[in-house]
Amino acid sequence: MALRSEINADVPVAAPGEFAPLPLTNAVSLWPPVVLAPMAGVTNPPYRSLCRRMGAGLYVAEMVHSRGLSERNARTVGMASFADDEPIRSIQIFGADPSDMADAARFLVEEVGVDHIDINMGCPVRKVTGRGSGSALPARPKLMGAVLTAVVRAAGEVPVTTKIRLGLDDDRHTWADALAATTDAGCRWMGVHARTAQAGYSGQADWDWIARITEQATIPILGNGDIWECWDALRMMRATGCDGVIIGRGCLGRPWLFRELAQVFDGTEPADPPALGEVLGVVFEHAELLVEYFGETKGILEMRKWCSWYTKGFPGSAVVREGLQHIDTLVDMRRWLSHLDPDIPFPARALRVPRAKRGHSQDKVHLPHGWLEQEDGESPPPGADSPAVSWSGG
Ligand SMILES: Cc1cc2nc3c(=O)[nH]c(=O)nc-3n(C[C@H](O)[C@H](O)[C@H](O)COP(=O)(O)O)c2cc1C
Repeated sequence: MALRSEINADVPVAAPGEFAPLPLTNAVSLWPPVVLAPMAGVTNPPYRSLCRRMGAGLYVAEMVHSRGLSERNARTVGMASFADDEPIRSIQIFGADPSDMADAARFLVEEVGVDHIDINMGCPVRKVTGRGSGSALPARPKLMGAVLTAVVRAAGEVPVTTKIRLGLDDDRHTWADALAATTDAGCRWMGVHARTAQAGYSGQADWDWIARITEQATIPILGNGDIWECWDALRMMRATGCDGVIIGRGCLGRPWLFRELAQVFDGTEPADPPALGEVLGVVFEHAELLVEYFGETKGILEMRKWCSWYTKGFPGSAVVREGLQHIDTLVDMRRWLSHLDPDIPFPARALRVPRAKRGHSQDKVHLPHGWLEQEDGESPPPGADSPAVSWSGG
């Protein structure tokens, strides 16, 4: 049996017919029902290409600001780019202004040729919620409805989905309003990161909420939160009845997770995760893709974090990781990585080692002035249309 952690010791591979493909359109379904989470600074074309080579499913581009698109801001438009061989062009947008969001959707459909638009209604980051977007939007049900309806209308035949958190905090769950608005607007599915915005990445995602939401929903629900191993995806779907899964941090430095997911959903036991030598092969491939896409300076700057994620949990890697934080060139990167022993097998403790966001919560979700006092408000907040800046997502 392949290496797995104790929590997944007894999880069997999928039985034939146990899970169904996830319909994206009337003509296109996803098998396995797996989605690479949109992640700012992560799910750029090189990384999507690497993940796609490993497995199957849907690979969503980084989130982009609707105003940046509607103004044709060069940087934002650049983030909405796709490789020629990308079979399904999928992207996430955010904003709180129905007209901007509709413009952005029209631009993406007509000029970029996207095949799927996801709407971010879960981001907890101050710069986003402070403008009424991300997880702040479902706290204003009427405005949320207007945004979703405008995007669905503008997108025409192109499917639109939403991605939410449970709510602002434990006292203000917004998922029920989000589910109603998502359903009424004619969106295809709703993804649920089973934490509140206030919780950030602390504690465990509460999968029981995914079960409850799935039970109430008449559209597919995709579960999200703390899928680190392929077995977790099966466990989540079995425990909650959800229709598919969204994978975020679990694939950071572990793109072969998509290969393992494809295998277990097809009823095949995967091989052990790769030994360090094979991992390094993936690191080099990733670095070359990033350098080709961004040039060496930015590509290698990006690789600093990736090197850290790829090597995390391997014995003896801490010192090398420190050095990798200062690399500027491909040659530097190769030199530091050459200190590692390629024969080290994938260690059990690396299976669930935390990567990217740390586990702290925020004291309070930052909201526009008076946001919760006028739940019925239909206008976007002042500043919702501020020019695009850089986002760290969430
Ligand atoms: C680096 C990073 C960037 C993220 N950016 C976005 C984003 O742009 N849009 C979004 O909806 N979620 C974003 N998220 C949240 C993930 O999509 C996902 O919901 C979250 O990480 C929980 O899933 P996980 O436990 O599988 O990581 C981001 C997460 C990380 C780690």
